[in-house]
Amino acid sequence: MNKCLIILPNILLSSSKDSKLRQSLIEDNLLEGIIKLSEKIFFPLSGASTSIWLLKERNKEEVFMFDASNLELNEQDKELVQQNYLNSNSEINRGKIKKHDYLFLPSIYLYKDEPVGDPNEIKENIKKLSSELLGTWEELEKSKIEIKNLLVALAEKGEINTLIEERKKIFLEKLKSKTKPNSYKRYLGTPLRYAGGKTLAAGHIVSLLPNNIKRVISPFLGGASVEIAIAKELDLEVIGYDIFDILINYWHYQINEPKKLADELEKFEPTKAEFVRIREVMKKHWKGEKKITGLELASVYYFNYNTSYGPQFLASQSSVYLKEDRYKKTIEKVRNFDCKNLKVFCESFETVIPKYKDDFLYCDPPYYLGGDSKVFIGMYPYRNFPIHHAGFKHELLRDLLKAHKGGFILSYNDCSTIREWYKEFNIISPVWQYTFGQGETRIGKNRLNHNNDSHVKKSHELIIISRMEQIF
Ligand SMILES: C[S@@+](CC[C@H](N)C(=O)[O-])C[C@H]1O[C@@H](n2cnc3c(N)ncnc32)[C@H](O)[C@@H]1O
Repeated sequence: MNKCLIILPNILLSSSKDSKLRQSLIEDNLLEGIIKLSEKIFFPLSGASTSIWLLKERNKEEVFMFDASNLELNEQDKELVQQNYLNSNSEINRGKIKKHDYLFLPSIYLYKDEPVGDPNEIKENIKKLSSELLGTWEELEKSKIEIKNLLVALAEKGEINTLIEERKKIFLEKLKSKTKPNSYKRYLGTPLRYAGGKTLAAGHIVSLLPNNIKRVISPFLGGASVEIAIAKELDLEVIGYDIFDILINYWHYQINEPKKLADELEKFEPTKAEFVRIREVMKKHWKGEKKITGLELASVYYFNYNTSYGPQFLASQSSVYLKEDRYKKTIEKVRNFDCKNLKVFCESFETVIPKYKDDFLYCDPPYYLGGDSKVFIGMYPYRNFPIHHAGFKHELLRDLLKAHKGGFILSYNDCSTIREWYKEFNIISPVWQYTFGQGETRIGKNRLNHNNDSHVKKSHELIIISRMEQIF
């Protein structure tokens, strides 16, 4: 083979460790060209965007350098590329590359204010090279898929980082608390207030996600705060499940028909009388006395839940959320919600987890009740009837997670049973303030005694991570 085109991880272009390799390519006069491509070329993977082009039996002293980082590899850009070749490339003498310690960074050579020689000669050279390059471009197109697969494999092995790392940095920087060190503000991406919701924990949990995942499966979706942060802010696919069919029906309309849902909600008045009327409709549906479906069920559930105290399903009304201006803002949030990366289904975790053996899981199950847990009352789907909480199969979840290959982050309430069950994993106990009682019975003086002398109610939560190295 006389000709070869290679996409190199960017690190190889300038690392001192690899300078010998670069030196031998220059000294053996094998390097025909270096082409810097767009960083987005293998999106969502990054870290490899420069191609080098090798030729056997070269007798030229110059190496072609070209910066195509602002272009894309599609048909349309071909002409643009040609124009670009004509106007902005140049050839660099091998001696000059040697002087720069064999760095393979076109920017060093192309953007210096130095005389570049006779313009006509350069133009001729550029013309010649540009036609050769078009051939190369076609080869590059062909090898693009192969290289992408290779990069995915490397990312899976953790040998290169993906853009997720960058997106995480940007998102977490925005969410960082200005007043408290190492804390994050609430993430307000979800239109649904939810009992046990993780709006405050979302930043922390996102910060712990590995950088090499392709999608996230969430078996306990609830109010979906973390899931929306992952889907929107990290641009990753998230598949969410929950056993509560009425909730999943709401999410279906919220994701796929937000405008229709908002129009339905506009028909309701944010008043106590309306709240009582709608709660009756919801109750009759729940008891099976008068079933409603589809968009009507989604809007009735949302109104009942979001304007309730707590929030809690079928509870009494919240004076704060039943205010005209607050209700209008809520409807706008419903209307403008846009999160196409999130898919939702109604299914119980015992069939969901085995389906996704190699996928990364984010699990926020109902809290463990009993033992020395500080939580005593089940709350899903509601306190008076916690059928999705009281008999929850915590042991089965533990066994499924222990057998799971794709990695997970699990949030739980802090109690000795959970600590014991998951002791082989990395357990951290972050502190974030939460607002809902979650069945916790200690209040007033008791809370003061057991809460580091603080009146502010703190969460007693654990985050359990499947592998140590994922948090470092
Ligand atoms: C703690 S909540 C999740 C809260 C969510 N992370 C949030 O930010 O709003 C737990 C969820 O698990 C659901 N659930 C309970 N039992 C389940 C089961 N067997 N399979 C799937 N989901 C279940 C409940 O309906 C509830 O929505």
